[in-house]
Amino acid sequence: MPGRLEGKVAVVTGSGSGIGQAIAERLAAEGANLVIDYRNHVEQAQGTQQKIAAAGGKSILVQADVSVIADGQNLIEQAWQQLGSCDILVNNAGVEKAADFIDVTEADYDTVLDVNLKGAFFLTQAFVRKLVAAKKPGRIINISSVHEDMVFPHFSTYCASKGGIRMLMRDLAVELGPLGITVNNIAPGAINTPINTSLLENKPKLDALLANIPLGRLGKPEEVAGVAAFLASEDGAYVTGSTYFIDGGLIRNYHEQ
Ligand code: BGC
Repeated sequence: MPGRLEGKVAVVTGSGSGIGQAIAERLAAEGANLVIDYRNHVEQAQGTQQKIAAAGGKSILVQADVSVIADGQNLIEQAWQQLGSCDILVNNAGVEKAADFIDVTEADYDTVLDVNLKGAFFLTQAFVRKLVAAKKPGRIINISSVHEDMVFPHFSTYCASKGGIRMLMRDLAVELGPLGITVNNIAPGAINTPINTSLLENKPKLDALLANIPLGRLGKPEEVAGVAAFLASEDGAYVTGSTYFIDGGLIRNYHEQ
């Protein structure tokens, strides 16, 4: 049986590690040709490429810092030039910085908002412009967070960025629907990835978090990737304007310590 994404080209930002890597692998396994984006760590991106190749998939590597608008435009341009299209965009690259609200600096704010919100905003714009010019439909999937909706004290910049991506998704679902472009968010909870390194190394904090998760464990990047593959495929053709929470029930069960 051919894969659900045969003939499609997908860009996944931040796909050298974590959730982005798992999504890139899964979309490739379903038949898509992949653009693996990385900012600093080419060796990690090469690792993703090797895994895709070992499974018989095709991918290219493109260095792009999504917070630099010209980099994002080049990322989309490379997909068209080297792979002939760009049908699926996964805005996955993301950063977080812990700080008490009263201590947040302008630099902290810019770092988090520029990657998580401004980067996704203008990369999506570059993606849509090319689709409009080519008169093609497309899929936009933002990797948001439970914190697009749920409080996360001491992470105000992260919450501001994820709240922004929630409304951007809703707005674009309506504006881009007539163009045949769907827009959805995936909102992961605590997933076992490098963004959670300090949490994983702090047993009391980890145990407190696990006590809040009805399923009693962290999620796996592959579990997030399964939802992304669904939204990118024909199976998800009628879904737009939605957030898919994948959090073991965390958002329904949160309480302060
Ligand atoms: C954050 C993690 C956090 C998780 C659950 C994610 O969006 O990146 O640091 O553990 O949400 O609170």
